Order: sequence, then structure tokens, then C-alpha cells
Amino acid sequence: MASTIERRKEEHVKLVSESDVEYENVKPGFADVEILPLANRKRLDVSKINIETKLLGKKLRAPIEIEAMTGGYDEGGRINEELAQVAEKFGFAFCLGSQRAMIEQPELAETYMVRRVAPKTLVFGNIGYANLKEYDVKILNEALKKIGADALYIHLNPQQEEFQPEGNRVKLEKAFAEIKRVARGLKYPVAVKETGAGIELEVAKKLVASGVKIINVAGAGGTSWGRVEIVRGNGRGDYEKGVFPTVDCIVSCAQLRKKGVKLIASGGVRNGRDVAKAIALGADLAGLAKPFLHAYNENKLELFCRGIVGGLREEMARVGAKNLNDLQKCKVRISGATAKRLNKKKNGVRMKLDERVELV
Ligand SMILES: Cc1cc2nc3c(=O)[nH]c(=O)nc-3n(C[C@H](O)[C@H](O)[C@H](O)COP(=O)(O)O)c2cc1C
Repeated sequence: MASTIERRKEEHVKLVSESDVEYENVKPGFADVEILPLANRKRLDVSKINIETKLLGKKLRAPIEIEAMTGGYDEGGRINEELAQVAEKFGFAFCLGSQRAMIEQPELAETYMVRRVAPKTLVFGNIGYANLKEYDVKILNEALKKIGADALYIHLNPQQEEFQPEGNRVKLEKAFAEIKRVARGLKYPVAVKETGAGIELEVAKKLVASGVKIINVAGAGGTSWGRVEIVRGNGRGDYEKGVFPTVDCIVSCAQLRKKGVKLIASGGVRNGRDVAKAIALGADLAGLAKPFLHAYNENKLELFCRGIVGGLREEMARVGAKNLNDLQKCKVRISGATAKRLNKKKNGVRMKLDERVELV
């Protein structure tokens, strides 16, 4: 008999595969971003471009992450295995979906075991912030050890929990103490992500104060979990309210990199050019969830991976950036609705922007 968690995970994958569950009006903002070519640099030969980077001591052959999606039921296990296989082949980071199912039902651990196909890949385990209070670090350490993970992603999804009738409504404010406890006691590095509603600077600063060194903004503009719950027939309310578009999150959180924070951009990243824009704005990596699931469904994973890497290289060639460091020296111009939002004062203060970023 499938448990409630298994059934829900399966339903989520089906809904994202078959229905339109992206934001309708909120855009991630990449269409408003333009990278300006480096001064005095001509267009480069694509083959000369180096897109390697490092995270948590592991080499990545591209600054790309396959975002957390699944595990805990048979098809979820197959999806994890195929995604991890391409992560290994292309040198991407790989994130498993919430491990709650395997903590509650240890026989489901098999559906998260990707090490046999991805021995070198940077692999993140995953757990929801609302469940942290149920688990002491020993349980989390064991869950990570069992699957051979390198680090843990804690996901913040207060909006989704709010929209789910069975949701665990834990106020975000209460989560920071739990995150601090886990970041202190866990044998693995702790990263924090949203699930598509965005982490902006205020929350990011509290995460840093709680001991978190990797923040994945997972902003709004791609998959909307509020909308998923509405399509599931349960949620009601305005899922587009109170969310933070991805570009806004990257631009506001980029200043934390000076404190040694690694910044990951996801939420509505859809192609290699978006990856380039996210990195030019200050992200260390960019991640995608839904597009990888769709490519899996269409049996086109390798083609999709080649496309995204090619798109990133092409954009870097255009602006004369021979590596990711160069890309982060480029000036970036932001226009349209994104520029308007970023220009707005909050409590009388305008957002602090990197000197390379120009709003028009
Ligand atoms: C089918 C599916 C299942 C997901 N499950 C999880 C999860 O278990 N844990 C998590 O942290 N995020 C989960 N997410 C959220 C993604 O990791 C990501 O933050 C979000 O989908 C936004 O990225 P996108 O616009 O590229 O889809 C899931 C996303 C999808 C599409």
C-alpha cells in the first residue's frame, strides 16, 4: 500500500509533467536582463571557453544543478537514477527530492540511491523545514550516510504548506532556530533553498546568521507550488502574491557572497542563456527542475543537457568571457518590470546594487 507521502510525491511529478503549473503573471526576470560584452573583447571561439567550477571541494564541469524533485516511490527512483546519470556525465550537481519518505519508511531508501550511477557527482540530500523539529541530527546524518550524499538541502516552502490541506504550517520565523541546530550538529554541510517562491535578502541574512553557507534562492517565475496545490484541487488563494522573482532574489542576495556565501539561482531558469545571466548577476551556479523532468519524460535528457551547456557557452562567447570569472566581470543591464521593481524604495531605502548592474 502506497503511503500518503508516496502518493503525494507521485501526484506532484504527474502534475508538473502534464499540467501547466508555472506562474501565469510573475516572470523570473531573465528576459529583462542583458549581459554587455567585456570591453575590448571580441567574440570568442566557443571551444575555447571554460565553464568549470567548484562547490564544496568537488569539481563541476558546468555551473549547473539538477534541482530537487523526487524519490520515495518506484518511478521516482527511476527518475533519480536517470537524472543522476546525466549529472555524472555532464559534471552537474544533483539534488534528490525530500527524504522524508525514506526516513518514515526505510524500505524506500532504494529510490534515492544514485551513487552507483553517479560516483563522483556532488549529491545533495533534502528535507523540508517544517519537518526539522521531528528529526534530531542523528536521524538526518543516517539518512544522508545511507545514500552517500555530500550535503543536505533544507527546503523552505511556507506557501506550499499553507496551500496544502494536509500542510504543516510552521512559521518561517520558527525555522531559523531549527536550521541553526541542524547546521551546528550535522556532519554534512547545510544548504537552504526555497521551492519557487524565492528567498530575498532579509531571509537570506537570517539564514547566514543561522550558519548556512549555501543559499539557493529558488525564486518565483517557474514552477509554482501554490499553483500545483490549486491544480491538485486543494489549494485556494492568490499564489502569485508575496513571492519574489528569481532575478530580484539574485540581485539582492549577491552582496552576501562577500561573506563567503555561495549563491545558487533557480526558479524559472529555462536555458543556457538564463544560466549565463544568473551567473553574470552573481550566482555561483544555476539550477533547473521542471525542464529536466520534461526532458526525462520525452526521453531527451542528454540532448537537453547538451543544449543548456551549449547555450551557456554561446552566450559567454558573445560577450567575450573565457571563463566564469570573466562572466562575472561583465556589466549587466536590467530593464522593464524587473528594473522598475528593483528601483522601488523599501522602507525609504533603495536596494544596494552591484556596481556592474545598471537599471534602465
Ligand atoms: C516534480 C517536482 C518535485 C519537487 N520536489 C521537491 C522536493 O522534494 N524538495 C525540494 O526542495 N524542492 C522540490 N521541488 C522544487 C524544485 O527543486 C525547484 O525549486 C522549483 O521547481 C523551481 O524550479 P523550476 O522553475 O526550474 O521548476 C520540486 C519540483 C518539481 C518540479
